[in-house]
Amino acid sequence: MSALITRLRAEHRREAYGLGTSTPRLSWWVDSPSEGQLLWTEFEKTTLDGHTQTARVEGAEQVLVAWPFAPLASREMVEVRARAGLTDGTIGGWSEPLRLEVGLLQREDWTVPLVVPSASAPHTGPRPAWMLRAEFEVEVTPVRARLYMTAQGIYRSEINGLRVGDDELAPGWTSYDHRLRAQAYDVTPLLTTGANAIGIELADGWFRGNIGFDGGVWDLYGPHIGVAAQLELTGEDGVSRIVDLAESWRASRGPTTSAGLYEGEEFDARLHEPGWARAGCDDSRWVRPELRELASVSARIEHAVAEPVRQIETLSPVAVEYRPNGRIRLDFGQNISGRLSFRAAGDAGHVLRLHHAEVLENDELAVRTLRRATSIDSYTFRGEGDEEWQPRFTIHGFRYAELEGWPSATLAPESVKAVVLHTDMERTGWFTVDDPMLQKLHDNTVWSMRDNFVDLPTDCPQRDERMGWTGDIQVFAPAASYLYRSAAVLDSWLRDVAAEQHAGGAVPNFVPWVPCGFPEASSAVWGDASAIVPWVMWEQLGDVGILSQQFASMRGWVDHLAARADDDGVIRSGFALGDWLDPIAPPEDPGAARTDRYLVTTAYLVRSARIVADVAVLLGDSRATIAYTDLADRTLSAFRREWVLSSGRMKGESPTSLALALAFHLFENDAQRLEAGTRLAELVAEGGYRIQTGFVGTPIICGALAETGHVESAYALLQQTECPSWLYPITMGATTIWERWDSMLPDGRVNPGDMTSFNHYALGAVVDFMHRTVAGLAPLEPGYRRVRIAPKPGGTVRAAATRFDSPYGSIEVSWRLEKEWFHLTATIPFGVTAEVELPGEAERRQLGAGTYELSSRIRIAELRKIT
Ligand code: BGC
Repeated sequence: MSALITRLRAEHRREAYGLGTSTPRLSWWVDSPSEGQLLWTEFEKTTLDGHTQTARVEGAEQVLVAWPFAPLASREMVEVRARAGLTDGTIGGWSEPLRLEVGLLQREDWTVPLVVPSASAPHTGPRPAWMLRAEFEVEVTPVRARLYMTAQGIYRSEINGLRVGDDELAPGWTSYDHRLRAQAYDVTPLLTTGANAIGIELADGWFRGNIGFDGGVWDLYGPHIGVAAQLELTGEDGVSRIVDLAESWRASRGPTTSAGLYEGEEFDARLHEPGWARAGCDDSRWVRPELRELASVSARIEHAVAEPVRQIETLSPVAVEYRPNGRIRLDFGQNISGRLSFRAAGDAGHVLRLHHAEVLENDELAVRTLRRATSIDSYTFRGEGDEEWQPRFTIHGFRYAELEGWPSATLAPESVKAVVLHTDMERTGWFTVDDPMLQKLHDNTVWSMRDNFVDLPTDCPQRDERMGWTGDIQVFAPAASYLYRSAAVLDSWLRDVAAEQHAGGAVPNFVPWVPCGFPEASSAVWGDASAIVPWVMWEQLGDVGILSQQFASMRGWVDHLAARADDDGVIRSGFALGDWLDPIAPPEDPGAARTDRYLVTTAYLVRSARIVADVAVLLGDSRATIAYTDLADRTLSAFRREWVLSSGRMKGESPTSLALALAFHLFENDAQRLEAGTRLAELVAEGGYRIQTGFVGTPIICGALAETGHVESAYALLQQTECPSWLYPITMGATTIWERWDSMLPDGRVNPGDMTSFNHYALGAVVDFMHRTVAGLAPLEPGYRRVRIAPKPGGTVRAAATRFDSPYGSIEVSWRLEKEWFHLTATIPFGVTAEVELPGEAERRQLGAGTYELSSRIRIAELRKIT
């Protein structure tokens, strides 16, 4: 009997390189047909010099298990492999080795200066990027060379003319006053003995570029930009040395004559010096940059916990149109976050402009909704044969592009590509369904997630916003942590949430915060991300570490919210966005919802206080357990007194208020729940099964209906195609999730509202219902250690399936209806158990690891489309 350990991972990452911790937690899958349990796991660590050490971890845990060896040191590289021992005596073979390499853990590990080419620069628009270069000698053949980098601004580097790494927009956007991320690169293959050179292009990025809406702000984190580059070589002699580049740095303006994340990038190839990053380049006219003590950077420098942003794929145009105005319009068939890359030959000085937009309006690129994010790149040809270019220091949200000044009469489709950029997360969740519209809804949600996970979770990728809005990820977190291994991205972002949280516990409505005029006061639902996102990571991934890391922040938020309550426990005042984008809200006032914003606020206090109480239990903090359990109970009673009638009906009744009270379990008993469910189904029917909810009600309404026995109402809502509905945008050609239900009006006009995006994942949070109820896979224990498989067919759906690569293994569920027979196939991995409930059957089956074919008979009458 075999029991092989596979997918041995450190933290949540596939690549354990440049780790920012000395004690990386380990996770693994066990691949075994055995009925036994995991009894122990043995690890073998091998150091660079071949020393091995073993350690054994007793028990069945296999997710984010504490590092079993002594803490690793900065720069330390080891290989770890593991093998399993099962309760039936099976001892598995050794796993594939996992190479772990730690980055620079201590501030004192950094000995290089911050190289500052520009201390401050007046601007009227986006500023040029700077070129930095330094030459250095390598005496001994390097057996190991590492380049550790961080920057204030965004950079791209080369050594001897060869690109370093493949990350984009490094070091990304964090709360720079608190945290600056460092990158580690293996540059051994790029070096030669003798003369070498390093070249870095540095642009404003988020550090001092224009960010934020309503005009945005410049120089948010400082008037300067700078980079720290620490090159460390280990020679054949085993001696490690840090290459002293201080006196060799030179700086110059270059071909990137302007670069803004929103505005786009201008590149004049005539100014490009091909050999600028090679030894021997004449830099006599370059200037010496300022060298600042790295100590001047007060923020903590820490290695990234998440994968970098990378070029994930390229798309070719699905349509090319030659426009009367001489432009060439390209439709890439998919709304993405990314850029164009092209290859063309043009005369020296010829300028090509690249325009971007998500949709067309009146047969023109709809650029009004981009607001100040003009998203225009321009390239001036060098005039030397075919030239290839792609911007480096900007990113756009687009499906359509127009080429203004393409240097030849026609365009060969392969000469222009759309490059998709986002954090290189591992896909973990899939969903298929036999209704092509629902399938498209799911696919569009996946794309909106990809397009808005560019280093941090943002609201949208195209306009002068693209910010870490808390409320959006709060409602989308269950979907985000199912579709992709997004834990590390969320972990990184939550660190900024905690860092920017105010003393009294208030959480900025978007993080990193940009003071661009939006109220500083926090809103419930948005601020609750600080409590709910870590909790969702625990539920979905079994990551208790994020709970202890964020506990103070979670408590702080709940304390802040509780402090806003009146003596009777109800919150009736303060900033509250409420059920944002309820369809009845007029375009210019998206917060004007039908549901009382303080009902929503008070309900969220119950939810978050309960979460904090549960976390306190997990962390063994009994005082906090008592305090927050009490707060949750008091607020719950207050909520019931204020809004719940004994029948289960509600004052301030609306689909959102009923769904919220059901989803948050605010009713006193099942009778009230059932009455509320019935009332909700009535309201939904009265609304013609068109959407009547905003940010708050939308993610939970289908679940609330299904859990109270109104599955068909949920499907009627889900499969509705009239506006407002989830499927209406698809009837209008959407390839991502829209911000507004009617971002595009049925007549093809773009919604007149100033705030209109075609790529917000928030309303796509409904895919969580599709995973849990349509396909039927939901966790019963954190990390899907124990799951519930209970598909609820309905509407016109006759087949659905889902797969989730959980922390314990890949779980698959698929079902189909054939006449009155319901057929289910389920695959449950080693270490996971399942409770299966088939439609038409009362009894639940308990299943262990294995693949199962199960069937049940259901009364057709139960299956009818009610619209
Ligand atoms: C953002 C949303 C956000 C909302 C709240 C919008 O501008 O795009 O994502 O949740 O404001 O006010």
